[in-house]
Amino acid sequence: MSGQSPKIALVTGANRGIGLEIARQLAEKGVRVVLSGRKPDAVVEAATALRSAGLNVEPLVLDITSTGSIAGAAAELDTRLGHLDILVNNAGIRIEEYGRQPSEQPLRQWRETFDTNLFGVVEATTAFLPLIRKSAAGRIVNVSSLLASLTTHSDPGSYAYSPMFKSLPAYSASKSALNSWTVHLAYELRETPIKVNAVHPGYTRTDMNEGAGDLEIPEGAATSVGMALLDDDGPTGSYVHMGNTVPW
Ligand SMILES: NC(=O)c1ccc[n+]([C@@H]2O[C@H](COP(=O)([O-])OP(=O)(O)OC[C@H]3O[C@@H](n4cnc5c(N)ncnc54)[C@H](OP(=O)(O)O)[C@@H]3O)[C@@H](O)[C@H]2O)c1
Repeated sequence: MSGQSPKIALVTGANRGIGLEIARQLAEKGVRVVLSGRKPDAVVEAATALRSAGLNVEPLVLDITSTGSIAGAAAELDTRLGHLDILVNNAGIRIEEYGRQPSEQPLRQWRETFDTNLFGVVEATTAFLPLIRKSAAGRIVNVSSLLASLTTHSDPGSYAYSPMFKSLPAYSASKSALNSWTVHLAYELRETPIKVNAVHPGYTRTDMNEGAGDLEIPEGAATSVGMALLDDDGPTGSYVHMGNTVPW
């Protein structure tokens, strides 16, 4: 990247977990990273830690469930940077309790889950899209989940076909809807240089899973980083994990 301006990336929910690691890995690859999150102190602390490791990272307060916060962030990025090359929609919540039947999960949890995992992503993406359109090769990465996959959920041989993973109906449906949004936006932008893809990070040991999972956090960030740095001949409207297509 020497001699060129670095690419500019915005990562949401990047003060901890997979998002923080996506920010780190992108910065290690020479990207100028805007590390965002909803808690000002946590965002500054995370960005400061990466900066003290010599990485080109700057903090931004952004709550994706707040219209005012999204609008303020878009205006600030326009002033500060003028364009965006990469948007990683990583922020997400899983608030349902394991062990309940799907029909027993309270409706308020459905609404809260969709407010973050779907509506927040849609509102943030549309607010940042004018900045991404100014990039020569925009990339939008939607951090989905294998639990978005109806094929996987319906397969008795899958780990999702279990009481544990059937107790997250709102989370799973919100990520299925995120996949649908991915396909729709990719279609709208198909004649532009912007690519829009959904990723399954892998079952990763983060706070969201109370430390359970198959992957360490660096591995859980790798698929998103790869899709953020996709070549011009890469796919759009796809759903992938570690280079492999995931069934819808
Ligand atoms: N871990 C896995 O096994 C796994 C598997 C499949 C998919 N995913 C997806 O991967 C993404 C990251 O998950 P993770 O495991 O790293 O989760 P995590 O450790 O719980 O971190 C979630 C991040 O999202 C942020 N966030 C939540 N609501 C937000 C909002 N309204 N605005 C801005 N930021 C918000 C959190 O900020 P606060 O610190 O302020 O709460 C936190 O930084 C999520 O989309 C998740 O669904 C994870």
